Amino acid sequence: MKQLTIFDILQNQDKDHVATPRWVVENIYKIIDINQFKSIWFPFNNYDSHFKLKADELNLKYKVTHIFDDLGNDFFKTEPPENCDLLISNPPFSKQNQIIKRTFDLIESKKIKSFCLLLPLSTLETPTRADMYEKYIDKLSILIFKKRIHFLNTSGSFNKGCCWICYNIPNLKRQLYWL
Ligand SMILES: C[S@@+](CC[C@H](N)C(=O)[O-])C[C@H]1O[C@@H](n2cnc3c(N)ncnc32)[C@H](O)[C@@H]1O
Repeated sequence: MKQLTIFDILQNQDKDHVATPRWVVENIYKIIDINQFKSIWFPFNNYDSHFKLKADELNLKYKVTHIFDDLGNDFFKTEPPENCDLLISNPPFSKQNQIIKRTFDLIESKKIKSFCLLLPLSTLETPTRADMYEKYIDKLSILIFKKRIHFLNTSGSFNKGCCWICYNIPNLKRQLYWL
């Protein structure tokens, strides 16, 4: 019988644990041409994540961490891999302000070069978030999904209007796209 991991047990209790469908992952990997990135960080991912599973198929070089993994890799305390040129993930929406802030801090400190964060459309609201995005507007691209994404988790599913907030991605030449 398979031994349960902390991840198996806690994911059932975590309302932030919603799985990104495979098509969303494949779509963004293609748009940004993920093969050009040589040191990728998935900070909110684990065994069942399509971000990781697809990366394995493509033989990408990455570091995968998650608060439920064996080391309890909290995003706010974990360091990116060396020479990290891309952070990409679907973060817990309930902590988005702090996550956006730390991600830009990592850019400032040159610990990561670029990022793509999948967030709810409401990420474009509020003075706090608007101020953070405006400060980095020169290299920012926003990719808006025309249709809501159907996410899955262990207790059911939910549909959410979402966008990718991308920073310093060479393939993105415009500031606004609809997907
Ligand atoms: C929206 S889910 C994404 C799951 C998976 N990456 C995917 O897209 O299929 C965000 C995950 O981040 C985890 N998480 C919450 N706070 C975290 C933290 N401080 N550090 C790392 N992971 C965290 C949650 O438990 C949740 O599983």
